Amino acid sequence: MIGLCEEIEIGYDDMGQGTPVVFIHGFPHNRTLWAPQGHGLVDRARCIALDLRGFGETTVAGPYSMDQYADDVAALLDVLRIERAVVVGLSMGGYVAFSLWRRHRSRVRALALVDTRAGADGEPARAKRDEMIALARERGSGAVADAMISGMVGKGTRSRSPEVVEEVHRMLEAAPVEGIVGALEALKMRADSTATLTTIDVPTLIVVGEDDVLTPVSESRILHEGIWGSRLEIIAGAGHVSNVERPAAFNHVLSEFLATLTLE
Ligand code: MLT
Repeated sequence: MIGLCEEIEIGYDDMGQGTPVVFIHGFPHNRTLWAPQGHGLVDRARCIALDLRGFGETTVAGPYSMDQYADDVAALLDVLRIERAVVVGLSMGGYVAFSLWRRHRSRVRALALVDTRAGADGEPARAKRDEMIALARERGSGAVADAMISGMVGKGTRSRSPEVVEEVHRMLEAAPVEGIVGALEALKMRADSTATLTTIDVPTLIVVGEDDVLTPVSESRILHEGIWGSRLEIIAGAGHVSNVERPAAFNHVLSEFLATLTLE
């Protein structure tokens, strides 16, 4: 489905009934990242997965920033007439979730922070982003996908399930170069969300793959310690895209979390 939100068109899927849950993908993904959750959770939740600007079917147009991505999510919730949603963000999607919390917290029913971190980029990370920008401009999305795939998918999945690696690679190489470059600039400039953690007073689930090398378990422990009452789940045998690598385990922890919300 494509919806018009202010000046851009946003590609999204809206499936199922029940508690609204909005899924925000990472870099350089698109909403198909969440296909296993759409299939697995549709009986218990209204699952909305969107493409961030510059990715998937959403308009490729700046400005690109975590705050702008968050405003786009809020605009989509307006179009869908959803007052409050559970917000699930993976990696860059988690950074967007922090911005959404700072800018539109009345729209956040609960949070699930997946394979993400609170801190901003330091100088070495920014230099790597610049290298990736040059790679994208000179050699295209396929080269970016090649450079990222081994960090994106955990070592267990790489040996166990080559088809998952191929599927994730296809998603990465489908990203438009302009969307990749815009997101990398936005990632470089994003705010440090560490001070935001203690302000979060909605139920929060933190999920991380035990083999995640991009946002390792230690980063999720920082989130868990900073967010009062949060719950931490470590997915065995999964890397950075834990929801795709171990979908049944991931859906189980997310379903349990959603069940606790309906009891409240
Ligand atoms: C992501 O998956 O969104 C990226 O790994 C985030 C990042 O590079 O900081």
